[in-house]
Amino acid sequence: MESLSGYVYKAASEGRVLTLAALLHNHSEPEVRYLLNYVTQVAGQRSTPLIIAARNGHDKVVRLLVDHYKVDTEQTGTVRFDGYVIDGATALWCAAGAGHFEVVRLLLTHRANVNHTTVTNSTPLRAACFDGRLDIVRYLVEHDADIRITNKYNNTCLMIAAYKGHADVVKFLLERGADPNAKAHCGATALHFAAEAGHLEIVTELVRCQAGMVVNGHGMTPLKVAAESCKADVVELLLAHADCDPRSRIEALELLGASFANDRENYDIQRTYHYLHMAMTERHRDPDNVVAKELLPAIEAYGGRAECRTLPELEAIRADRDALHMEGLMIRERVLGSDNIDVSHPIIYRGAVYADNMEFEHCIKLWLHALRLRQKGNRNTHKDLLRFAQVFSQMVHLKERVVASPPWSRC
Ligand SMILES: *[C@@H]1O[C@H](CO)[C@@H](O)[C@H](O)[C@H]1NC(C)=O
Ligand SMILES: *[C@@H]1O[C@H](CO)[C@@H](O)[C@H](O)[C@H]1NC(C)=O
Repeated sequence: MESLSGYVYKAASEGRVLTLAALLHNHSEPEVRYLLNYVTQVAGQRSTPLIIAARNGHDKVVRLLVDHYKVDTEQTGTVRFDGYVIDGATALWCAAGAGHFEVVRLLLTHRANVNHTTVTNSTPLRAACFDGRLDIVRYLVEHDADIRITNKYNNTCLMIAAYKGHADVVKFLLERGADPNAKAHCGATALHFAAEAGHLEIVTELVRCQAGMVVNGHGMTPLKVAAESCKADVVELLLAHADCDPRSRIEALELLGASFANDRENYDIQRTYHYLHMAMTERHRDPDNVVAKELLPAIEAYGGRAECRTLPELEAIRADRDALHMEGLMIRERVLGSDNIDVSHPIIYRGAVYADNMEFEHCIKLWLHALRLRQKGNRNTHKDLLRFAQVFSQMVHLKERVVASPPWSRC
């Protein structure tokens, strides 16, 4: 029986329905039950014939199993998706996440529980939203899927679709009453996720549906998140948001310009100057009511410079790249706050550029400053120092920025 179960699993996995039928034929009912409940462990997955057939989109196999053999649709297993390991996934979850509409339809026709969640509380609907398949999302919702169930981080279906850039799914969920202002554990809303990822159409849609300009657990509004990640078009759109006061507007423009000055992928010093100039112009728009900067004390790592306070001061450094780089780092530290989790990456990046140019003293000063900021911002310094050491060695060996876990799994 043990080896027969291996053949049954393989036939289900490969969609060979005739082979599967032949293998199960002439066995007693308890034997068939044993074979179809048997959990096979292969390549980090643990699944039954039904789950693997659903995962791989073999609708004929799924039909044979649920129709003829009445296999329990609520069996769960461990499957891999896009490098993620999902525990407690049903056949429906797998089919929804892998984009197999016909399998989804079959399973729901056979009364699969549309709300059955995985161990991390992910629903089949969430899996479909991640994948961006509107047809499956719609079908699940029309079969009573609960759009309010969140994963264990209180992250909603709307958030995952917003982050992944599936505008049609976002619109559909909003039409069906998804709450645009729901907050994940980390305090982020769907608007934070869309802004960070730079999905302009989704940002527009969320704002149209009254998504608010709220701060997340790191004190960041969606506007700041967009500015910090160099999403200029999203920033320009959100500047017009109803809840955006003059100081937030100015700081967002400054943060955007500052971020363009020290980002490996988005480096653009012309845009740095452009946005810093816009911000400075806004600060001085009304000469009787100048919006003054609240400057931090000069920091040695930034060459002991002070931030520009007037247009002439800024114009004087227009062609001085190095000064603009340091201006950017100072602005980021002021606007984000020295304990912000994102503040240190560009400092480390800028240090690495110095190191590449053999300017080690500059590099070390910046890296030590970044280390101090990270210690300040994170109570768990042991873990943080380890991560920091990894960043160093990675940067030295690979010259690559280490990407933390993706936001949708963080919160
Ligand atoms: C799924 O959740 C929705 C909304 O709460 C509910 O109406 C529906 O009956 C649930 N379906 C199942 C199978 O539990
Ligand atoms: C997560 O959501 C649940 C249910 O909606 C709520 O009771 C809880 O307070 C939320 N937790 C956090 C940390 O936001």
